[in-house]
Amino acid sequence: ARKIIIDTDPGQDDAVAILLALGSAELDIVGITAVAGNVPLKLTEINARKICELAGRPDIKVYSGAIRPLVRPLVTAEHVHGKTGLDGPALPEPAMKLQDQYAVDFIVETLMSEEAGTVTLCALGPLTNIALALIREPRIAPRIREIVLMGGGFFEGGNITPTAEFNIYVDPHAAEVVFRSGAPIIVMPLDVTHKALTTHKRIEAMRKLGSKVGDAVAALLDFFERFDEEKYGTDGGPLHDPCVIAWLLRPELFTGRHCNVEIETTSELTMGMTVVDWWGVTDRPKNALVMRDIDADGFFALLTERLGRL
Ligand code: BDR
Ligand code: CA
Repeated sequence: ARKIIIDTDPGQDDAVAILLALGSAELDIVGITAVAGNVPLKLTEINARKICELAGRPDIKVYSGAIRPLVRPLVTAEHVHGKTGLDGPALPEPAMKLQDQYAVDFIVETLMSEEAGTVTLCALGPLTNIALALIREPRIAPRIREIVLMGGGFFEGGNITPTAEFNIYVDPHAAEVVFRSGAPIIVMPLDVTHKALTTHKRIEAMRKLGSKVGDAVAALLDFFERFDEEKYGTDGGPLHDPCVIAWLLRPELFTGRHCNVEIETTSELTMGMTVVDWWGVTDRPKNALVMRDIDADGFFALLTERLGRL
């Protein structure tokens, strides 16, 4: 199986991404690293463990990482995810222990000890932990198989400011370190995730699984989608983070192109904007495979089927 580290700030959609990975035998989760983002670190590391236990996998190693972004103060998103970050279902406090090792050290140690080119980083939150790992041990960069991340938006605009997507906005300096690292990067921006809507029909399909996981996911998504439904009147909300895991399982569900991506870190107005050279109008290096489209029905069929295995 393909070795992955999931770096995450759960988050309802992060939770569903973790469950999708846990339901997929092609993937071997060597560790989950929590980062501050949707809610503070204290909650994201608990939420990550809650999800492992929900899936009956208390053996998964969960590590706690950066408590705040590299430079800017932490911005959280309780307005979307609720106070706990996982509002919706009533999940018990986790009994499984958090690992003692610092998440950044775990990422470095894993990449240095596993065979080069075999470990994939799945980044579902602000990129602080991954940037810290790259700064601490630059030799990890060429050893990373690829970094698949949810973040940014170009034709679609932003969701936390007119030009910035939340994960990049929270830690633009970390994003800059990651995009300049030379490691292969696959980006799932809002241009993709805004097409992966949790319609009532799709949530019903999860509830119909008739399992503990199916019920919990339906409750997570009922809560998560209310924000977009109330604000934008859509049927469902965008299921961002599971797109990262889905790409590892079924890349043909997505289309995009290799291009240059730079991160805005100086202008307050456009802070955290992903400047994507989609049309190749510069000769800056093509540092990322940026996705633009998704087969949403295929994606939800895959997700429901995999959740059904848990
Ligand atoms: C991203 O920000 C968070 O709210 C979600 O979990 C996702 O990772 C979407 O902008
Ligand atoms: Ca997230």
